[in-house]
Amino acid sequence: MIEDLTLSRRRLLEMSVIAGGALLLPRVDLAFAQPAERMPTSEQAMGPFYPVTKPIDQDADLTVIAGKPGKAQGQAIYVMGRVMDLKGRPIPNAQIEIWQANTFGRYTHPNDRNSAPLDPSFEGYGLFVTDQEGRYRFKTIKPAAYPASADWVRPPHIHFQITTKANWFVTQMYFAGEPLNEKDSLLASASNKETLITQLMPPTKDLEPDVLVAVWDIVLPRS
Ligand SMILES: [Fe+2]
Repeated sequence: MIEDLTLSRRRLLEMSVIAGGALLLPRVDLAFAQPAERMPTSEQAMGPFYPVTKPIDQDADLTVIAGKPGKAQGQAIYVMGRVMDLKGRPIPNAQIEIWQANTFGRYTHPNDRNSAPLDPSFEGYGLFVTDQEGRYRFKTIKPAAYPASADWVRPPHIHFQITTKANWFVTQMYFAGEPLNEKDSLLASASNKETLITQLMPPTKDLEPDVLVAVWDIVLPRS
């Protein structure tokens, strides 16, 4: 769901507490603080580029590869939010996997035949779990659009696979303001595409000044 900018900024300030590494937020019982029923995040196709071979360096920072010099090219972004159930209750210890194209629109995958270059410093895959408040955060590069066929260019997006005791959930996150969003048949097929689109915003003071930040909550269908 697209939140208005004011609300998104407030959520960003809340979530930045995690980015700073100190969980200082007052503990709130979200079952009482949130509406009784939330719009579930729409599911999306897995797509053809889930990693065949997962990298050894599996973590929440895709912009550096352990043991290798250099940083990934492109616009660095943080993506953060909460995983929750339909009643807004946080889901801790949810395993989140993400995979995406690099800043040139190329996946590190043997079946990606696009001519765009690989970036040897970009991880392309991340793996992490939510904390006890259901929160997650990762650092990556804003992916570029890429051609999926002769007449279809996919808008920038990040693939998510979320595994919990009750859910195996696959979806894709998109960025607000991308003209290709309006033409994408996969995004259009979502039962509620607003649940899949988030805003990129300037960083809070505790983050690097050249990054952008997206806050994106994920509402799973089962507790
Ligand atoms: Fe994709």
